[in-house]
Amino acid sequence: MSNFVCLSVARHALLRRRGWDFTRQGLAGSPPVRLVVGRDRHGSVDRAARFLGLGVADTVVVDSDTDGRMRPDALARALDEQTTADAATIVCLQAGEVHTGAFDPFAELIPIAKSHGAWVHVDGAFGLWAAASPRLHALTWGVDAADSWTTDAHKTLNVPYDCGMAIVRDPADSIAMFRAGGDYLMYTGFDPWDVTPELSRRARGVPVWAALASLGREGVEALVDRLHGNARRLERGLRAIPGVTVVCTPDFTQVMFRLHDDDATQELGRTILQEGTAALTGAHWRGRAVLRCSMSSWVTSDDDIDLTLAAIARLTSPAVI
Ligand SMILES: Cc1ncc(COP(=O)(O)O)c(C=O)c1O
Repeated sequence: MSNFVCLSVARHALLRRRGWDFTRQGLAGSPPVRLVVGRDRHGSVDRAARFLGLGVADTVVVDSDTDGRMRPDALARALDEQTTADAATIVCLQAGEVHTGAFDPFAELIPIAKSHGAWVHVDGAFGLWAAASPRLHALTWGVDAADSWTTDAHKTLNVPYDCGMAIVRDPADSIAMFRAGGDYLMYTGFDPWDVTPELSRRARGVPVWAALASLGREGVEALVDRLHGNARRLERGLRAIPGVTVVCTPDFTQVMFRLHDDDATQELGRTILQEGTAALTGAHWRGRAVLRCSMSSWVTSDDDIDLTLAAIARLTSPAVI
C-alpha cells in the first residue's frame, strides 16, 4: 500500500508537470505513464502498478546483477530507448532485495534517472533502516536524492503489522493527489487524511512513535546492527558446514543458502520448520532452490543462531542424508 501511495503521487505530479491535471481530466488521453523497475523488484510493486491501471505493457524491466542490484548501464540504455518524449517516467529502485538483501547503487542510478526527467521511488521495505547505522549506512548512499521512499516499521522496527510508511519529498505533491476535503472535518492544517487513501484509519503512527521514542537514535542503531550481526554469525556458521553453499554474502539482514541439490534444500527447510527450530523460507534464486533467512526479530539471540546452525549441521550430515 505504501508503494501504491508513492507511485500514485508520482504519477499525479509527473502528469501535472506535463500540463495534465489528472484529478480533473482523468487518464484517458493523458501523456503515457511508464514504470521502470528492476528485474528483482518485489511483487508488491507490480501489484501497486495494477492498482494504478498500469499493465505489463506500461512497465520497462531493467536487468540486475547476480545479487539483484539494478545495473546502471542497463537503466541508462532503457531510458535512452524510450521514444515518447512526453512520457511520465517513474523509476522504481530498491533498498534490500528480499532474497539477497542487495541494495541498488543509488548514487549511480538516481542521477541517470533524474537526467531523463524521471521521478525516483525507492522501495526500502526493510533495507532503508540500514541508514540508521553508521556501520551500514553506506549501503544507502545516494538514496536521499530520490523523490519518494517506502519502508516498513513492522519489519525492522518490530512494531505490529500494518505500519508501512510512505515518504514523499514534497508534501504538496501528496496533498494534490489525496486531499479529499469535507466541511465537517476538523482541519488542523496538515492531517493524515490529506496524504493517504483512507479518511478513517487506525492511528498506526502511535506504536511507531512509541518504538522510536523508547529506542531513541542509539537504540534503533543497535537494533539494526544486531540484526546484521545475526546474519553475519549465521553466514559464518553456514560456511563451516560441509555441503552448504552460501549463495551471497549478507550485506544487511538476509542470508541465503542451498545444498547440492534442490530437493535436499527444500526438504531441509521443511524439516527445520517442522522441528520448530527456525522459520527458514524456501524460495528460488536464479533458478535454484534456496533457503532464505531474514533477520528481523529483536529477540533473536546468538543462541538462536547457534541452535539453527546445529540443526542444519545435524540434518545435512552424511549419516542423516
Ligand atoms: C522489498 C519489499 N517491498 C515490499 C514488501 C511488501 O511489504 P508488506 O508486506 O508490508 O506489504 C516487502 C515485504 O516483504 C519487501 O520485502
